[in-house]
Amino acid sequence: MQTTQESLSGNNQQVPFHQPICAELRQHYQSVRDLHLRDLFAADPQRFERFSLQVGSILLDYSKNRITADTLKLLMQLAATADVAGWRERMFQGEKINNTEHRSVLHTALRNRSNTPVMVDGENVMPAVNAVLEQMGKFAERVRNGEWLGYTGKPIVDVVNIGIGGSDLGPHMVYQALKAYRHPRLDMHYISNVDGAHVVEKLESLDPETTLFIVASKTFTTQETMTNAHYAREWFLQRAGDEAHIAKHFVAVSTNQDAVAGFGIDTANMFEFWDWVGGRYSLWSAIGLSIVLAVGADNFAALLGGAHDMDKHFRSAPLEQNMPVILAMLGVWYSNFFGAESQAVLPYDHYLRSLPLYLQQADMESNGKSVDRDSNTVDYSTGPIIWGTTGINGQHAFYQLIHQGTRLIPADFIISATAPTGLHEHHDILMANFLAQTEALMHGRTLEETIANGVPAPVAPKVFAGNHPSNALLLDALTPHSLGMLIALYEHKIFVQGIVWNLNSYDQWGVELGKQLAKRIQPELQASTAVTTHDASTNGLINHYRRLRTG
Ligand code: F6P
Repeated sequence: MQTTQESLSGNNQQVPFHQPICAELRQHYQSVRDLHLRDLFAADPQRFERFSLQVGSILLDYSKNRITADTLKLLMQLAATADVAGWRERMFQGEKINNTEHRSVLHTALRNRSNTPVMVDGENVMPAVNAVLEQMGKFAERVRNGEWLGYTGKPIVDVVNIGIGGSDLGPHMVYQALKAYRHPRLDMHYISNVDGAHVVEKLESLDPETTLFIVASKTFTTQETMTNAHYAREWFLQRAGDEAHIAKHFVAVSTNQDAVAGFGIDTANMFEFWDWVGGRYSLWSAIGLSIVLAVGADNFAALLGGAHDMDKHFRSAPLEQNMPVILAMLGVWYSNFFGAESQAVLPYDHYLRSLPLYLQQADMESNGKSVDRDSNTVDYSTGPIIWGTTGINGQHAFYQLIHQGTRLIPADFIISATAPTGLHEHHDILMANFLAQTEALMHGRTLEETIANGVPAPVAPKVFAGNHPSNALLLDALTPHSLGMLIALYEHKIFVQGIVWNLNSYDQWGVELGKQLAKRIQPELQASTAVTTHDASTNGLINHYRRLRTG
């Protein structure tokens, strides 16, 4: 245990960032910072072959990064110094690497299609994992084939997943992504926000006779989810009349059996998962129930299979040929040496439109930390700001700043080679823009080129400095398998960065304080006399709201 003084001092001399390799990297940075990608490409016709990698159906081209072969070598030495390989094994083998919660980190066991034993506290978790998967498959099959009937004998048509954070973003993103694989009768809906508008608007269009609710919450205590779940229960009972009908219309996904029973859901209709599954890593668990309902057990198995294939690659490939490690170390290069503050995620794919949102939680809740795993305050940058939207829309919104602003913004461009709709001309336009943007960001346009283009004066605003780094991720097609690979790729990237920054990526204490304060403030909003217990700003706002409050 560290002392408070140590905790505040940022003096953890053991961390990779205080090892000689980082001094070497800082020195190397001085020799690379002014190199232009345009020149690096001109000097090396093999740059694409040198700096690209295919794993299964995903091609990663990382040649448009501000690196040389030496950069990569040094970054891999940093990864080795951080013992990425050792920590990786600790994670896969179920060691309790989530040290603040004393938990294993085993989302990889959820998709362990090889079914090799994975031990937690001396017990193989695979039989339980497989049993829940089977339970999900059987239940989903009954709903999908119309055998599971609502209280008036009609098959289910709408499924509402009530959850937030990891109990919402993952399943929602995958549901959108796998539209082509959906069951034709079933629509999934996702309610997360405790703004009543979300639940009211959603329920307005639904028929209680044919609606199934999944209350998805690891803890089954999250205020937003439980408030919405109770509202949905009331809404249902007002129409169905009889509590006995709840069993046909409410199921739960949770680690908390007592709370599920307390809510009034038959625990026979509960799908279990375990404390070694982090919320933001839980779409592979029973939290993925809405995915199984939408696309079926076989496609869910393919999603798990894709993730498992990425797990195998991550676990076995040498660091310098390891896709998650490469992506992670490039991110470290920009964050800690170039001083980049953010990382853009730009899917050129309508079906991946929620990927940036999903990765915001996955990455920022994992690595948005300033105290390391040994309780020392860090003195280097950790997790970047993750942001983005679908590429084409972004082009017409914020790309201006990436091209000509004053900040360095590394960007991941993601696309699949196959037109999901069969609209090939649309897809060629999409692909052309994808390529044009990465080329323009990399190459830019010099003053001479701009003048030679016959651009009218003033010319300077039309010059592009270029030298903006990007990764291109090209999927053969967006399928359950390739999506599983892609998500697992990012999960492991986040893991590697967490190790290099000496973080515990699997807790999220930073969200707790706000939750506690909200609980304290909520009753004060109904106080009959002025609230004076906070700072002047918070008091002022509370009292202003009290005057306007409509309830
Ligand atoms: O508050 C953050 C968080 O704990 C996330 O980590 C989690 O995904 C989300 O809340 C939802 O939690 P639960 O599944 O327990 O409702």
